[in-house]
Amino acid sequence: MSVTAVKVNYNIDWIIPSLKNPSRLWNIASSITIACVGLFSKFIIQWFNKSKVHNRHIISFALDKRPKHVPLITVSNHHSCFDDPGIWGALQIKHLMKKSVMRWSLAAHDICFTCAQHSYFFSLGKCIPVIRGNGVYQEAVDFCLEQLAKGAWVHVFPEGKVNMTKENMRLKWGIGRMIFESPITPIVIPIWHIGMDDVLPNYPPYMLRLRKNLTFNFGNPIDFTEIVKVLRERKATDVEARKEITDRIQDELLKLKEETEILHQKYFKFKS
Ligand SMILES: *[C@@H]1O[C@H](CO)[C@@H](O)[C@H](O)[C@H]1NC(C)=O
Ligand SMILES: *[C@@H]1O[C@H](CO)[C@@H](O)[C@H](O)[C@H]1NC(C)=O
Repeated sequence: MSVTAVKVNYNIDWIIPSLKNPSRLWNIASSITIACVGLFSKFIIQWFNKSKVHNRHIISFALDKRPKHVPLITVSNHHSCFDDPGIWGALQIKHLMKKSVMRWSLAAHDICFTCAQHSYFFSLGKCIPVIRGNGVYQEAVDFCLEQLAKGAWVHVFPEGKVNMTKENMRLKWGIGRMIFESPITPIVIPIWHIGMDDVLPNYPPYMLRLRKNLTFNFGNPIDFTEIVKVLRERKATDVEARKEITDRIQDELLKLKEETEILHQKYFKFKS
């Protein structure tokens, strides 16, 4: 009598093991996927829409110049399903197209990994299936910690879902665990973007739109070394540590949000 949603029972158990031990063929396919998606994002963001990127030098510097063993975490607001890869259209092409440089990203298993085709596409694109609601101790977060230990870049949408409400931001604590437990404390760069929900709206038809106004703003890196040191010294519990770190990120993101909204208004008003 009731219409139940189609339940997808696609088995994703193979994905993280294949990401951990990629074959030669996997690496080639992954490099091609990253390059194509990167170029596509560049087209959409910078050539088919009106984009203004602020402070790109912050991320470029982190990608080019951070020591090899120092990991990078980026955090941003989440307004549309095109945010990742779309945001990376704001990067320089030399970064965007390189598998070894590009981010790992957590993606919802029940959205991006519902069938074999999508699962290959997203995992070749360096996305890791995260099971929302399963907490901070899950395989996807462990995998990110392993990558951070190797000095990689991990991107997180700490809100954990696309923001379609007017509610205040509430961040998930997985990000707190990653920063606290990473053997080398990562450089954390906050990103705020505006307009992505105009490029790919959150309602049907889900089609990319053109000629929208977009702003991307890279915030100053947040240095957690001191905070993590103090948390360890005072023997904070994992929960306390995660909360404190996550709260700090939330504050920084909200500050960046205000700054970016002003930049967005000024830039696009001034131009008209
Ligand atoms: C969520 O979206 C609403 C509407 O676009 C916006 O007013 C609000 O600031 C957003 N919140 C966050 C945390 O992005
Ligand atoms: C986009 O920016 C242009 C100026 O560059 C302005 O005329 C136009 O109104 C803006 N569009 C929206 C939807 O804000």
